[in-house]
Amino acid sequence: MSGVHIAPPELQPASFEFTPENMALAKTHIAKYPEGRQQSAVMPLLDIAQRQHNNWLPQAAIRYIADLLGMPAIRVLEVASFYTMYNLAPVGTHFVQVCTTTPCWLRGSDKVLSACKKHLGVGPGETTPDGKFTVIEVECLGACVNAPMLQLGDDFYEDLDEESTGKILEALKRGETPKPGPQNGRLSSEPLGGATTLTTFNPAGAAGGNDD
Ligand code: FES
Repeated sequence: MSGVHIAPPELQPASFEFTPENMALAKTHIAKYPEGRQQSAVMPLLDIAQRQHNNWLPQAAIRYIADLLGMPAIRVLEVASFYTMYNLAPVGTHFVQVCTTTPCWLRGSDKVLSACKKHLGVGPGETTPDGKFTVIEVECLGACVNAPMLQLGDDFYEDLDEESTGKILEALKRGETPKPGPQNGRLSSEPLGGATTLTTFNPAGAAGGNDD
């Protein structure tokens, strides 16, 4: 995984503030916590700020959220630099997060990364020259049952191989939005050939609670 990359001073805006809509949204998160515990809202507020600011967090947003929550800016920066979901420098329009933790690695995440290199010309931590794609490696995203997988925006693309990854990337290049979820034809995390249990479920005759 690449280290934390903070945008250089020339890319940092002098100030940041929430839009009125986002301030209202931020307040709903802050209100979830008891008096004196408002700092617990730091993660959703960082997420709101990042979505407002083209998918990355300038230092002005870090300071703004720190002031809003009454906490030191360094504490907000600690959170923002720990989680890969927060970007501290500009990223491509398509932010490709490839999981390479053990289950995904065992199931072929190397092939997913090599498809990124082949179709985009960039590897982990790099952005395409046109600014459209950034690829990073991330730790487990909690979809191991559909490994290997990657995240694009808010969507998971699962059960990948080199070919299906390439198809997704080429569709994005054409301006299309490929369908998220498993890419090998299975439904959710069901067996590839369809359900193998509860296939004859009959409520009227299910007194025993099991049809097998
Ligand atoms: S290891 Fe990749 S989603 Fe869990």
